[in-house]
Amino acid sequence: MTPAQNSPRTLYGGTRNRRVTVRDLAAAKERGERWPMLTAYDAMTASVFDEAGIPVLLVGDSMGNCHLGYETTVPVTMDEMTLLSAAVVRGTKQALVIGDLPFGSYQEGPRQALHNATRLIKEAGVGAVKLEGGERSADQIELLVQAGIPVMAHLGLTPQSVHAMGYRVQGRGEEAAAQLLRDAKAVQDAGAFAVVLEVVPAELAAEVTRSLHVPTVGIGAGPECDAQVLVWTDMAGLTPGRLPRFVKQYAQLRESLGDAARAFAEDVTVGGFPEEQHSFA
Ligand code: KIV
Repeated sequence: MTPAQNSPRTLYGGTRNRRVTVRDLAAAKERGERWPMLTAYDAMTASVFDEAGIPVLLVGDSMGNCHLGYETTVPVTMDEMTLLSAAVVRGTKQALVIGDLPFGSYQEGPRQALHNATRLIKEAGVGAVKLEGGERSADQIELLVQAGIPVMAHLGLTPQSVHAMGYRVQGRGEEAAAQLLRDAKAVQDAGAFAVVLEVVPAELAAEVTRSLHVPTVGIGAGPECDAQVLVWTDMAGLTPGRLPRFVKQYAQLRESLGDAARAFAEDVTVGGFPEEQHSFA
């Protein structure tokens, strides 16, 4: 494969003045082409990822821990999700932007899901939404898809259920694996255009990927998924503390930003900044 063929841009046949669509992702699965997805929570960071050719950006409810200072994703509200999704849409030109439906915004049933997904589509301008759950969320997915809203499903470790399931590998054991396969089929049958598989055994994720015609997006789900997603602050080394073993860091932003802030502080303290070129006559 040449580097050009390997570029995320090939998802939609080269750089074009249009956004990636869910149809492009379906076509990529047919071609056996893998693609990357990152989270984004603000316009400036999103523009960097868009310019780097990341075809799909998720305004994940991981904004709770990674951007808003909450301990989990659970407190994130529709207002917060709408505000930050709109910023990510404004910061991008080519990426498909997916808004996450936060905890409490779709569990009451399909009509609540439709109301809140419509908000993300109309007020924030996202191209698709994501929600957690398999068979239990199938009715919600079906109504959204009927209304013309593309839906990404999310199975395996679903952080909105942290109080019930904790942060543990999901789908281990025969019964749990069979349930995950049933969930994956259920969301596909309901019309989901893709399925996130979070922290499930690699072999099971491979089996789900083979058995679905829609793409799977892995996070801690091994190398056989059709796409891979990481939380951007984990990927770029901004998240403090111990990271899950499925994370690979591609930069050390926490260290670089800290160094920059310390250098600025030192400069100000010793009178090294501002200099003549930073001042007005
Ligand atoms: O909220 C999020 O960032 C997510 C990804 C980890 C898939 O759901």
